[in-house]
Amino acid sequence: MNRGLFIVFEGIDGTGKSTQLPLLANFLRNRGLVVVETREPTDGPYGQQIRALYSNRNQGTPQQELELFLQDRRQHVRQCIQPALDQGKVVLSDRYYFSTAAYQGAAGLDPKAIFARHAFAPQPDLVLLLTQTPADSVARIRNHRGDVLNDFEQQDQLEKVAALFASFEHDCIVRIPAARPIAEVHASICQAVLSLLTNKGVRCSD
Ligand code: TYD
Repeated sequence: MNRGLFIVFEGIDGTGKSTQLPLLANFLRNRGLVVVETREPTDGPYGQQIRALYSNRNQGTPQQELELFLQDRRQHVRQCIQPALDQGKVVLSDRYYFSTAAYQGAAGLDPKAIFARHAFAPQPDLVLLLTQTPADSVARIRNHRGDVLNDFEQQDQLEKVAALFASFEHDCIVRIPAARPIAEVHASICQAVLSLLTNKGVRCSD
């Protein structure tokens, strides 16, 4: 059981997770809650190895890639997520194990087997799954970030990832259409989070 609250942002690349997460953090802080903002891959040693893979994914097998994400996540849970939850904080994470099931699943591994490797990982109270078409994502990444797409982000790959995200059915998942103005997406996210707070009996100021 989590004493704090664990909220995860998921979705394909370019859906605006890293824009929306700090907006939600502010919203919750303004209501008197203590919030920890974090992300995966982390900035730790395994996360750095993962980032080095971005430019050339052929450096390792999907299985090796999976093991790296798992090591990164174990460390993340042990050093950041679990201590914060034990202290009753609200943890907001940009990506978690649904990303592994979707991305490494798209790379050919079995998503169910990937979920099964996560017995060590606290389950989120809420997964905000930001949804939009892969074509929208590719356009957003090119136009807004001005980036070239890294190997994780190629459109055919994103199609497979999006299909896997769409197939996940867990009680904690709330799907948020993301191809809308930032304020509208934020409003939908706040609505989902406020109903979680009400369900959990968390008191906060207005
Ligand atoms: P991303 O959230 O885009 O990080 P950043 O904003 O720092 O670039 O994540 C990087 C990529 O890693 C992204 O394309 C998804 C991929 N990824 C996986 O393949 N498996 C995982 O378990 C996680 C957490 C991410």
